[in-house]
This record gives sequence, structure tokens and C-alpha cells, in this order.
Amino acid sequence: LFSAVQLAPRDPILGLNEQFAADTHPAKANLGVGVYFDDSGKLPLLQCVQAAEQALMSKQAPRGYLPIDGLAAYDSAVKALVFGAQAPAVQDGRVATVQTLGGTGALKIGADFLRQLTPSAKVLVSNPSWDNHKALFSRAGFEVAAYRYYDAARRGVDFEGMLADLNAAAAGDIVVLHACCHNPTGYDLSAAQWDQVIAAVKAKGLTAFLDMAYQGFGQGLAEDGAVIGKFAAAGLSFFVSTSFSKSFSLYGERVGALSVVCESKDEAARVLSQLKLTIRTNYSNPPTHGAAVVSAVLNTPEWRALWEKELGEMRTRIKAMRQALADGLKAAGVTQDMSFIVNQVGMFSYSGLSKEQMQRLRSEFGVYGTDSGRLCVAALNSRNIDHVCQAIAAVMK
Ligand code: LMR
Repeated sequence: LFSAVQLAPRDPILGLNEQFAADTHPAKANLGVGVYFDDSGKLPLLQCVQAAEQALMSKQAPRGYLPIDGLAAYDSAVKALVFGAQAPAVQDGRVATVQTLGGTGALKIGADFLRQLTPSAKVLVSNPSWDNHKALFSRAGFEVAAYRYYDAARRGVDFEGMLADLNAAAAGDIVVLHACCHNPTGYDLSAAQWDQVIAAVKAKGLTAFLDMAYQGFGQGLAEDGAVIGKFAAAGLSFFVSTSFSKSFSLYGERVGALSVVCESKDEAARVLSQLKLTIRTNYSNPPTHGAAVVSAVLNTPEWRALWEKELGEMRTRIKAMRQALADGLKAAGVTQDMSFIVNQVGMFSYSGLSKEQMQRLRSEFGVYGTDSGRLCVAALNSRNIDHVCQAIAAVMK
């Protein structure tokens, strides 16, 4: 049966964790996967999460099945966070939201639903994008193509190219957009550029799928989520995937959500029924713990304020590490202008290093980033920064 099964390639991001774990370099640093570590190199357990967990534990609640679409209080808290509780689409009941297995689960449920709905549509992802976007939509049965995004020469967004590619897309095509903190480049669109993208999506009849895995890691929760309000205000039907892996430091709990903005309440009810069917035939219903924690925090003003404070601290520390990396590289003898590191936003820096340089970083210095040159700045700290700077300087010589 399995004699013809081929060995699948290692995942370009998560596969690095296995290699890192086996590495014996004394100063090894894992800047591969997008995970935030604190200044002592530890994965934080947020205080707001601890408070909610203590309260949940004291109740000793039994663990029945959740509804197929998840915890109702969680789904409504997600709607309020992503769209605003008073947003017309929410007030009118035009948003269908389901709890999912992280942001990836939201993308997959959305992809499977779209594949049933518009099987011949093409999916467009940014060039470059999170590696799993292409893989996930391809495995869901779609043809996946790219729209221009990164301009290496200008160290920014090739906006003219992006717009031209969106304008050349066929009606009904699905365009995957990073709502904030573009992964892997760290370059986001300006508000004015978003307006132009929205106009193109509308004029060409494209379906926007906004991936929002890093809300709160760019400028702030409201600022990073502002693009969602723009799409809603344009009267578009669109998809939003949410992840709380990073913003709540709840990676392993797989807490995410898929929201679909529809034209009417009736349409949203029909869409919701299809999303539930998709979930039921994949994994039946979602797990309880992570969503119970996130819902408790988002729905309790005191814990919500604590979460925003802790998220703000993570954001500030990442920014400080960007500056430390740019300064450290200079001090280590790098003569090229590395100020772009400070201008990028989110967890990553797209360093411009080649695949060969990234491989040397791993094999000679135990410094892990992806082959594409992406480095997770959120994993830098005052102890590993010097070694990382020396290593990068050495491979740049
Ligand atoms: C990343 O890009 O590193 C994160 O989104 C984690 C993942 O699942 O790839």
C-alpha cells in the first residue's frame, strides 16, 4: 500500500524546530518560527491568562462537547475585537464567526468552504507569503498563484506591481491579504494603499481573505485591525482569520476564529450552517480550554486591560530588539545600511540574506532563521543578541 509513498519535505518553518532541538551549539538561538520569547528567553504565560485559568480551575467545570461553531461567548468576543461591537455588520447580524484550531484552522475551514462554493477560482497570495498559505490552499484543491508584493531593491512593497496583479485577476478569484505585520517581510500597506486595494477588489469582484495572525504586534490592536473596518465600510463580503496564538501566547491551545462578512443576516445564517458542516466533517467541534480562557479575558474588563498592557509590552520589547539588532550589526562591523530592520513591523525581519547565508548561520553559529532570510526578532533577547549580530556579520563579510 505505501511502497510508492514519497517522503514529504520538512516544513520550511516548523521543521526548523526539530533541527534546532538537536543542535548542540552552546549559543544557539531559534529565530525560525514566529514565537515571542521574553528577555530571559522564556515563552511567557501571560498574567491575564493565569488569572482566567485560576478562575476556571476553581469552578472545576465538566468538559462536554462545545457547539460545532464553538463557545458562543468566545465567538461574540472575537466579533467585537475584530469588527467592533457596534459595527453595523455585527449589529445587523451579517457576520458569521466560528471558533477554529488557531489561525491555520480558520484558513483551512475558509478554504474548504470556498472550494465548495467557487471551485474554479484561483487563489492569489503575496510574493512572498507565509509558506503555509500556498500549501494550504493548494491542498484544499485550488490553483494558487502569486501577486507581486516585496520589492527587494526598494526594501518595501512593490505597490504598483501588487495593484497591477490584482487588476489583472479574474472576477471571483480569492486574494489572501495580510491584515497587519506582513509575514515574512514586515512591510505593511499604508491606509491610502489599502483604499486602493479595496477599490480594486471591489471593481474586479475579487474575494478578499484577510489573515490577521498578529493583531496588536504592529502599532496596536485598533490600529492593526483598522483595515477590517475599511473592508466592511466598502460593503464587501469577505473572510477574516484570527489567531490568538501569539497575542495570548497560547500557541499550543490552538485558539483562532474565522469570520465571514455577508450581505444580510439570512445570508450569514446560511454561510454559518456551511461553516459548521465543514467543521463537523473535519474534526467535529473545537476544544474547550483555550477559547474559555480567551473569552474570559476579553469579556472581563480588568483582565482585558491587563491583556492589552501585556500585549503592549511584547510589542515594545520587539521594537527595542529591532533597534538593538540594527545597532549591534553596525557595531559588529556591518557597513551596509541595516536601518530597514527598524522600519519593518511585527515579529519578523526579512533580512535579505541568501539561502546559503541562512544555512551558514545555522551550521556554523547555531542561529536559526528560515531559508528565505526571515528572522524572528521576537526571539531576540539581551543574552543572545551579541552572538546573533556576530554571526550575521560573519556571513555578510
Ligand atoms: C510562523 O510563520 O512562523 C508562524 O506563523 C508559525 C507557523 O505556524 O508557521
